[in-house]
Amino acid sequence: ISILVLHGPNLNLLGQREPGIYGSLTLAEINRSLEQEAEKLQAKVSHLQSNYEGALVDAIHEALGKHQGILINAGAYTHTSVALRDAIAGVNLPTVEVHLSNIYRREDFRHHSYIAPVVIGQISGFGAQSYLLGLQALVHYIRK
Ligand code: DQA
Repeated sequence: ISILVLHGPNLNLLGQREPGIYGSLTLAEINRSLEQEAEKLQAKVSHLQSNYEGALVDAIHEALGKHQGILINAGAYTHTSVALRDAIAGVNLPTVEVHLSNIYRREDFRHHSYIAPVVIGQISGFGAQSYLLGLQALVHYIRK
């Protein structure tokens, strides 16, 4: 099983970006632990980070035929992007949404996710662990 991991805007700054909210791990460290978790699950991950909405849309389209599922932290585009939602709905690949922070404990504008209605489920609030939990859930979903 091959999973595409997508990281949205500003997640390249992890480690230095608001560490009280997002933790001190860098994106490279998170990607490394995802690779280790994937190995345990006998799956593979490919990751991409972009600050550009269109690049994320392209990556979702290109996942078709290459990957069996998508794990996405869309960052702020979670709360703004109809285009990302339509891309996920369009390719119809099983997708899990993750967030480092608990978006429901934060500002009102973070409480709404445009992509939540087109994903299998969402994991929010467990820091870097959200990604690992999301990967496990996605791989199990695809296998069953
Ligand atoms: C985030 C939450 C979003 O509200 C925010 O814009 C991010 C990161 C998270 O992982 O907690 O960039 O998706």
